[in-house]
Amino acid sequence: MNKKIRVSTILKRKKEGVKITALTAYDYTFAYLIDEAGVDIILVGDSCGNVCAGYETTLPVTVDELIYHARSVRRGVKRALLVADMPFMSYQENTEQALHNAGRFMKETGAEAVKMEGGRHICGTVRKMVDIGIPVMGHLGFTPQSVHGFGGYKVRGEDSGEAEKIRTDALALQDAGVFSIVLEKVPAGLAKEISGMLEIPTIGIGAGPHCDGQILVSYDLIGLYDKVRFKFVRQYARLAEDVRNAVVAYCKDVRDEQFPAEDESY
Ligand code: KIV
Repeated sequence: MNKKIRVSTILKRKKEGVKITALTAYDYTFAYLIDEAGVDIILVGDSCGNVCAGYETTLPVTVDELIYHARSVRRGVKRALLVADMPFMSYQENTEQALHNAGRFMKETGAEAVKMEGGRHICGTVRKMVDIGIPVMGHLGFTPQSVHGFGGYKVRGEDSGEAEKIRTDALALQDAGVFSIVLEKVPAGLAKEISGMLEIPTIGIGAGPHCDGQILVSYDLIGLYDKVRFKFVRQYARLAEDVRNAVVAYCKDVRDEQFPAEDESY
């Protein structure tokens, strides 16, 4: 359980038929808790824009903001593979821009890989990164940085044309050298087909049970972020309720002069 997870471990998991576990983290405390509990991949996701910063989309997140989060997470992670998300418009302009920003993540945060959204149009950049030794995770299907282009949060790949595009993009990313691909919000049948045709693992989120691994936003998993609840989220705890109840109890105790007690005072 304590052996360090590397890109090679993730690739081996698929060959051995062992499911890969992945979660997001944005700070030191969550990072060490999640890492100690034994997850394989920790992603410093740009979903921090939603759950930490309160933005409606991930688009406003900057490289500097994600670098701050990734540095905090790095200090808590000993075992899991640490992946940093490349924010919107930090890699889309050209390969030079992408290399510069990926380099910042690797040098300034200690991330061991980066994740980028998109298919064939980013493959040249992916190839260059992989050539210089930066492992890349792909992301297809519902890619949140394209929410406005998609016109909402709808499942992707339901019609045959879009399903074919996702299949072709997945093969192109594999050829370009990504070590895994996140498949977000696509029909389970399509995710099964793509997982079967690739040598690299797929990591699903809202993509059914046939992917080689699963990822969730940690705040969703523990029921801490309860503003939106997607169908694909299973809540393993109800922390939002716990937080509200704790704060109500604390305020009552302070107002009733029940806190602090003598043994909580110097
Ligand atoms: O930013 C994020 O958290 C993600 C995962 C949901 C895959 O991209």
